[in-house]
Amino acid sequence: MPKVIRVDPLKPDPETLREAVEILRSGGLVAFPTETVYGLGADAYNPRAVRRIFQVKGRPADNPLILHIGSLNMLSEIAEIVDDRIRDVLKILWPGPFTVILRKRETVPSEATAGLPLVAVRMPAHPVALALIEGLGRPIAAPSANRSGKPSPTAAEHVIEDLGDSVDLVVDGGETFLGVESTIVDLTRDPPVLLRPGPIDPEYLESVLNRKILIPGFARGFGEAERALAPGMRYRHYAPDKRLILVEDPLNIASCVEHVVRGFIERGYKVCIVGYDELSHLKDLLGVEYISMGSINNKFEIARNLFKALRMVDKTNADLCVVVGIDESGIGLAIMNRMRKASGGNIVTCSSSQLS
Ligand code: TXA
Ligand code: MG
Repeated sequence: MPKVIRVDPLKPDPETLREAVEILRSGGLVAFPTETVYGLGADAYNPRAVRRIFQVKGRPADNPLILHIGSLNMLSEIAEIVDDRIRDVLKILWPGPFTVILRKRETVPSEATAGLPLVAVRMPAHPVALALIEGLGRPIAAPSANRSGKPSPTAAEHVIEDLGDSVDLVVDGGETFLGVESTIVDLTRDPPVLLRPGPIDPEYLESVLNRKILIPGFARGFGEAERALAPGMRYRHYAPDKRLILVEDPLNIASCVEHVVRGFIERGYKVCIVGYDELSHLKDLLGVEYISMGSINNKFEIARNLFKALRMVDKTNADLCVVVGIDESGIGLAIMNRMRKASGGNIVTCSSSQLS
């Protein structure tokens, strides 16, 4: 069990956070809450500390990290901004769940960017994360604080479950506010490319950028990305150990899920469903374990509970679980990207003929 300190997420006591800052300063690893998910942080300018992040997570060495900053001055230290309009856009989106890919400066050790000439940067909208960056006075390199391949942690317990005492300190600020990781956009490309959907949705982003962005198939959760474009998007992600099947059906999701689950039960499988309050009648109807992520009409609630629900899958008695898809509008795209990846491409849709 690692050392854990509890803090008020909205008004963290600087005195309490002092120890965390000292650990970062001396090259240690600190897990801390951001508004999206928990991060596993190290001093971004300390190559040894950054290398330890990869070891502890079991992360492939060619998958670069996000640098977390606390001010636009810090951005100028690490990235080249050729176009002043980019600065104006970042002033609108930051602090917030938005990560930008820019050309890096020499100050950034190549360990943090996995040798790439580009760096991912974001200014988190979380008082604890901002206080740590300010205390350290340097950017904090931080991936999500899960073991590589597992669902991202939205609570300190998830970090402890995955990483144990290989992390020097866990700052426990309760559950994170948004529950899915930041939107990532590559602004070095023309048009800009969405690498990972998140809480800042494409419609809004296009209105802020005042231009169209490219949304490749892998950003929706389909297929594999080219290494040069999106180095981290090729690996299996967010996956429970148990088999997970994603059911997508824009027309009649309740009957499609019922049909698919009955099929598995008939073949002798114990099944669980990860779905919504509105479909919870399927629990008794089919006699299965049912995990609800919230109301189908509240996508932010679903986003907040998604990773916790995926972690619960492995704690059920089921042989396999069916996760229920949702439409892609707004934060729905981020949710569907995570679900498609978690299912490892095990996606079922129902044609009307199957249902009749
Ligand atoms: O919300 C978040 O972004 C969280 C919190 C902790 O800030 N962080 C997070 O980090 O999700 P991570 O490492 O789990 O995901 C970062 C993604 C990876 O898929 C990585 O490949 C991509 O960002 N990335 C980092 N640097 C990149 C670069 N130079 N070019 C393209 N993709 C990059
Ligand atoms: Mg991650």
